[in-house]
Amino acid sequence: MLTGNQIRKEFIEFFKKKNHKHFESASLIPDDPTLLLTVAGMVPFKPYFLGQKEAPYPRVTTYQKSIRTNDLENVGRTARHHTFFEMLGNFSFGDYFKEEAIVWSWEFVTEVLGLDKDKLWVSVFTTDDEAEKIWIEKCNFPKERIVRLGEDENWWAAGPTGSCGPCSEIHVDLGPAYGGDENSKLGDEGTDNRFIEIWNLVFTEWNRMEDGSLEPLPKKNIDTGAGLERVTAMVQGKSNNFETDLLFPLVEEAGRLTDTKYGEDKEKDFSLKVITDHSRAVTFLINDGVIPSNEGRGYVLRRILRRAVRHGRLLGESELFLYKMVDKVVEMMNEAYPDLNDNLEHIKKVVKIEEEKFSRTLDQGIQLVNQEIEKVKSEGGKKLSGDITFRLYDTYGFPYELTEEICEEKGVEVSREEFEAKMEEQKEKARASREVVMEKGQDSFIEEFYDKYGATNFVGYETLKETAKLLSIREGKDGKTLMIFDTTPFYGESGGQIADTGVISGNGFEGKVVDVQKQKGIFTHTVEVIKGEAKEGEEYLLEVDEMNRLATAKNHTATHLLHKALREVLGTHVQQAGSLVNGQRLRFDFNHYEAMTSEEIEKVENLVNEKIAESLCVTVRNMSMDEAKKEGAMALFGDKYGDIVRVVKVDDFSIELCGGTHIDNIAKIGLFKIESESGIAAGVRRIEAVTGLGAYELVKKMERTLKEIAKTVKSDEANVVERVEKMTETLRENSKEIETLKAKITNYEAGSLNDAAEEINGVKVVIKTFKDKTAEELRQMVDSLKDKLGSCVVVLASGEDKAVFAVGVTKDLIGKVKAGNLVKEAAQIAGGNGGGRPDFAQAGGKDASKIEEAVAKVKETLKTLL
Ligand code: ALA
Repeated sequence: MLTGNQIRKEFIEFFKKKNHKHFESASLIPDDPTLLLTVAGMVPFKPYFLGQKEAPYPRVTTYQKSIRTNDLENVGRTARHHTFFEMLGNFSFGDYFKEEAIVWSWEFVTEVLGLDKDKLWVSVFTTDDEAEKIWIEKCNFPKERIVRLGEDENWWAAGPTGSCGPCSEIHVDLGPAYGGDENSKLGDEGTDNRFIEIWNLVFTEWNRMEDGSLEPLPKKNIDTGAGLERVTAMVQGKSNNFETDLLFPLVEEAGRLTDTKYGEDKEKDFSLKVITDHSRAVTFLINDGVIPSNEGRGYVLRRILRRAVRHGRLLGESELFLYKMVDKVVEMMNEAYPDLNDNLEHIKKVVKIEEEKFSRTLDQGIQLVNQEIEKVKSEGGKKLSGDITFRLYDTYGFPYELTEEICEEKGVEVSREEFEAKMEEQKEKARASREVVMEKGQDSFIEEFYDKYGATNFVGYETLKETAKLLSIREGKDGKTLMIFDTTPFYGESGGQIADTGVISGNGFEGKVVDVQKQKGIFTHTVEVIKGEAKEGEEYLLEVDEMNRLATAKNHTATHLLHKALREVLGTHVQQAGSLVNGQRLRFDFNHYEAMTSEEIEKVENLVNEKIAESLCVTVRNMSMDEAKKEGAMALFGDKYGDIVRVVKVDDFSIELCGGTHIDNIAKIGLFKIESESGIAAGVRRIEAVTGLGAYELVKKMERTLKEIAKTVKSDEANVVERVEKMTETLRENSKEIETLKAKITNYEAGSLNDAAEEINGVKVVIKTFKDKTAEELRQMVDSLKDKLGSCVVVLASGEDKAVFAVGVTKDLIGKVKAGNLVKEAAQIAGGNGGGRPDFAQAGGKDASKIEEAVAKVKETLKTLL
């Protein structure tokens, strides 16, 4: 019997023999802004189907890692739903078509996989006579086991628009035990679990347009997909994918880690299957650079990961377990995906951190959801309102999907629409408050201005000084003036880099530029007038402050070096999440799941400074997006292909798309020094750093601090560490000695209290008050007195502000007097309360001035009791 791994190999080998080129599985993160994740084998080839790009080979075959999450709640419940799965596929880009696709699939299924011909069924699209004919004539397939199905079943498209076409599917009939009867046909109602689709052959010859119409593609293509897990199940005679050798070892591992046996309880099996499926998805997503977050792919990962953790809880597992599944996943999949091993530690770390975080949320959240459900039920209701589901999400971070799942289990309704409506409401509020902050009126002015004059001609990359015509002058806020010219050398704030500063002069006018903002390509200069009056239509000299521009450029280029160094030291999951660059410093925000260690910070700083010492050149070029990607520029999600982009390259070290101003050689940065590293949101870190003179000043400041420390501890810089270490050691020893001495004093004082013992009705009684004893010291004294006197009652009190009392009664006397009662009496007088055991009790009170009164009262009580 073929193993899952063998089937994967056999498939590729089979199509290689049919002249297909084998491509490695593409990343789960598609190179396609319209898709969140790779959902099928054809995703990486979309441009070839659409004729946007020439395919490098006319025939390709792959096993493609894929993820689908549209049916997440069903994963684990059913025999065949998965998030992560592998799709075996063969593709033709304008090369072979229906006949070869059908004949080869038949050959593979019957001859390589050896599936029983009599159990196979085939479907074709309603009008596809051609496909049916090929099945009958070229494969000898019996006509009575071919059914025609409509758009829902036998038309395939990756999205609402784009390439698509009719398809033909191969199914395995598991027999009437799985639904229907002797006469059932593929497609009959109630036979979904009986007829298992194993291979989809798509005849991709259409392009769906925005308006829904179909246009023929430039060439006819083939796209096929066979789910490896299903195929394996059919080959291995399993009605459940999870019981194949591709997945069962993971089910067992999940069972081992959660102390659960598979096959004894349906609900427990469900949870084990969830953990099995999700551990693969989580491992592969992180391997491809996804980090848990609240958006996009990060949120998909977070949802899957958290669902698995919750099912661990359902199995009674309270320890972290999911990250341990990663080892087994990698062990099983490493042969087909060798890069997994390189990232093993990183993957486990990310899973563990998120698992820890979520475990805390879960403890709190599950309790809250259950409370809410109980409340609703006790009030005779049947539904959790959107208010509640949203509050659970918003305030406690409890995912909606989990609330929904728990409610489902408990028979309580929830409404996603209501939840989403609340979510929208909150977003709306946030938007509204942002809009208030924005200057009203500015937008419509810019619109009109743009229609009249078009965008400003920006010459600031080439020159810092330019004569330009003033097109508009108006009043700004706080007595400042807003000026727009036809041309400007001033950089307008964008891409995290702040605006240039400088001077505008001419015709008796002089003004200081304090800010420049860019909207719709129009540069508005905010100017403080020094003298004179400027007039529209006249020419002025615009001069950028060179030193400030240079300092800013150093910091901006340094930001690129930092970005690259972070990716080298921490990993390629690091991505820019924001930045701020000015003449004084730089700030860089990036995705990373934990605080950097001081070693990591040092490594990054070192690497940047090493590069600076190499004096690498910076080049800036405009090119097409495609070309930029070929050069290795990171394509940010959302960048449009085909656009002309500005590419900033630091030799072969760093390459980024950027509109900012840079220095031409990084040696000019001089020195790069990180000031701080901190967290600003979950999974987002911030580094602040300085360069050039700023870095020099930071070092000087550190030096001054060091000198001061040395002076304070009476040492010099060279020996200061040793000196401080010694002092700390001495302090530690002194503290220990003080403790010992204190204990001795207490003991000594207790000894002297022997003499203070008086007798009440023949019983030894010690009553004493102090000012400065701690509760612990009083306890020690009580114990010591009880030991020394053998039979006695001890009442001690202390305090200057608040009162503490300690009462001890030796065992022989507790029939008459109870320490707990006495201490309670005393504490109540001092404005407190308390109690305790009959032989020893302690209590406190707010008012130490009542101590004497309190012990006097206790003494009276003792006289009556003893
Ligand atoms: N792209 C086709 C599918 O995913 C083969 O079913």
